[in-house]
Amino acid sequence: MTTMPGGPRRPLPRFPRDFLWGVSTSAQQIEGAVDEDGRGRSAWDAFTAEAGRIKDGSDARVATDHYHRYREDVALLKELGVGAYRFSVSWPRVVPDGSGPVNAAGLDFYDRLVDELLTAGVKPVPTLFHWDTPQRLEAGGGWLRRDTAERFAAYADAVAARLGDRVDRWITLNEPAELTLLGYGLGQHAPGRHLVFDALPAAHHQLLGHGLAVQALRARGATDIGIANSHGPTWPASESEADTGAADLYDLLLNRLFAEPVLLGRYPDEELAALLPGPVAEDLKTISQPLDWYGVNYYQPTLVGAPDPAATAPTDFGGISLPPELPFSPREIKGYPRTDFGWPVVPEALTELLLSFRERYGASLPPIVITENGCSYEGIEDPDRIAFHDAHIRALHEAMSAGVDIRGYFVWSLMDNFEWAEGYARRFGLVHVDFATLTRTPKSSYHWLRDALRDQHDRR
Ligand code: NOJ
Repeated sequence: MTTMPGGPRRPLPRFPRDFLWGVSTSAQQIEGAVDEDGRGRSAWDAFTAEAGRIKDGSDARVATDHYHRYREDVALLKELGVGAYRFSVSWPRVVPDGSGPVNAAGLDFYDRLVDELLTAGVKPVPTLFHWDTPQRLEAGGGWLRRDTAERFAAYADAVAARLGDRVDRWITLNEPAELTLLGYGLGQHAPGRHLVFDALPAAHHQLLGHGLAVQALRARGATDIGIANSHGPTWPASESEADTGAADLYDLLLNRLFAEPVLLGRYPDEELAALLPGPVAEDLKTISQPLDWYGVNYYQPTLVGAPDPAATAPTDFGGISLPPELPFSPREIKGYPRTDFGWPVVPEALTELLLSFRERYGASLPPIVITENGCSYEGIEDPDRIAFHDAHIRALHEAMSAGVDIRGYFVWSLMDNFEWAEGYARRFGLVHVDFATLTRTPKSSYHWLRDALRDQHDRR
């Protein structure tokens, strides 16, 4: 994209004093130490051990070794000047088998991390579940089973009991849409199931787990709870009925299936709700308790058309391979720059998305926090990443000026890490990690963000 390496840059617009700036990571992607201090196995440990699952043949046994280097990483956060750090708690580290005894040594790690963050003046924002289901539960059906939701709530309670005296902001789930689609629907993420639409129970049970965890956190006195869902505008490939119908279905699955139960207490489609297991109407009451804010992970818009009847091979779409039997087919978005992952860079789609949220949910929409936004580029000199965040922060400011209540922006990610099925090949970090030596080196984008945050501070 157009960059201005080293050159002068327009200062960012001024944000409210209490706007929360942060960076995000997740346990499986950074911690390593998978066999230490009583941690149980995760579904991703099992998945990465299967030949051919991860493109570069890697696994997450060491990842960035954050488990041992968290002090160095918190020092990087402090120097960056962010107000908050979103990390995830590893369920199998805390409850090794997914249910049953709590592993005190696992909780000790998050205890140390939270204390280190507070000493550094950085607000801890834990996510309770970022895809690392305990393998013992996964082997019994994982999120396809209803009792996984109950076990998740019991684990949430154990974490809140230990950290709740110092943590006030919580995130229940991260991107249940991706776990449902990629993990249970298409088999490209753990647990590697290929159930296509039969994966839908995993969606409902994650949502139920969210609702039960909100209740558990509230019972422990939590007053600042959200969820991190992935969203992006869906554009039809043409005005034809076939293309708009396909785009509407894709929009329903990506943008509405996980938002509407939470925000409105209903599923966006009755036919779809009829496919879901259990007392769905009753569950929706649990799922839709009021949240204090709603987290949006935004990366890119999607151009969607009807499937090409002649297609036999999967279409590769930003690292995801979509089989031809699906009733929609993503198309290439032309005319925009791309990240090294091939994802189109479309900052104005973030403004569009945020405005559409207000349009769709009106008074039912709590304040929004952007819980992830980021891009993969190579190199320690990364002018494209600077341009990406600069443009997206302006795009979100535009939505704020148009009256959308947005309270925070978290960059994905603090540092390069294990990018799931891509292994270590995609680098999303503000800090470069040399995976041979585990040396951390702040990139130009880190310095840019540090200066931009100082500038915000000075202009208060
Ligand atoms: C969203 C996921 O939450 C995160 O784990 C992942 O690394 C980023 N997207 C980038 O793909």
